Amino acid sequence: MMKKYILATAILVVFIGLLFLAAKYLGSNPDQLNFEYSPDMARTVAFKAQSQNPFFRNGRTEQTPVDGTIPRGFMPLHYGLSEEEAKRAGRELQNPFQSDSTANLERGAWVYQTYCGVCHGVAGDGKGLVVQHGYPAPPSLLLENARKMEDGRMFYIITYGFKNMPAYGSQVDRNDRWYVINFIRQMQENQQ
Ligand code: HEC
Repeated sequence: MMKKYILATAILVVFIGLLFLAAKYLGSNPDQLNFEYSPDMARTVAFKAQSQNPFFRNGRTEQTPVDGTIPRGFMPLHYGLSEEEAKRAGRELQNPFQSDSTANLERGAWVYQTYCGVCHGVAGDGKGLVVQHGYPAPPSLLLENARKMEDGRMFYIITYGFKNMPAYGSQVDRNDRWYVINFIRQMQENQQ
């Protein structure tokens, strides 16, 4: 009876000893990765952005976005390039910053002096610097036509351009376009 106990204890001690040895040699090094089975399934081969790709029918790694995709936070405008569309914008687009704060007006002034003044003149009279060097002169923004123009149509003109005026939609952010319109309104009021 006693012998059996001793034998069982000895086997247990040896077994635990083996466990410690196994732990020491198999898994105790924190710098060493564990054994991974079939790692390719977890870690797929990354393709370089402009390299060929056999997994897509068109052979490209970079796929074009699905039709109609828009960036998050971006509201598309649906206007074509014609006088009719400019009129439609004038009817439909509403200035979201009607009653303006001083900070927005200051921003509008900055936008105007940065993007518009070179042609339209610092004071809006159409005598900007590039006009003095031969660029076709824009009409004064202080005249009847611009005074009566809807904010929406101005927004359209800034976004898409208009005859001799290039488009500024890609350079002047959407809110900035409304701010600069408010600034133009302020210039008009100050020039009664
Ligand atoms: C490169 C010169 C240039 C710049 C910069 C420019 N414009 Fe113009 N703009 C013009 C010209 C030229 C016209 C007249 C277009 C025509 O009838 O051929 C015009 C017309 C306009 C009109 C219509 C005025 C009217 O009475 O018909 C508005 C409004 C206007 N611009 C606003 C702006 C605003 C706001 C900016 C700045 C974001 C700006 N423009 C930047 C050249 C410019």
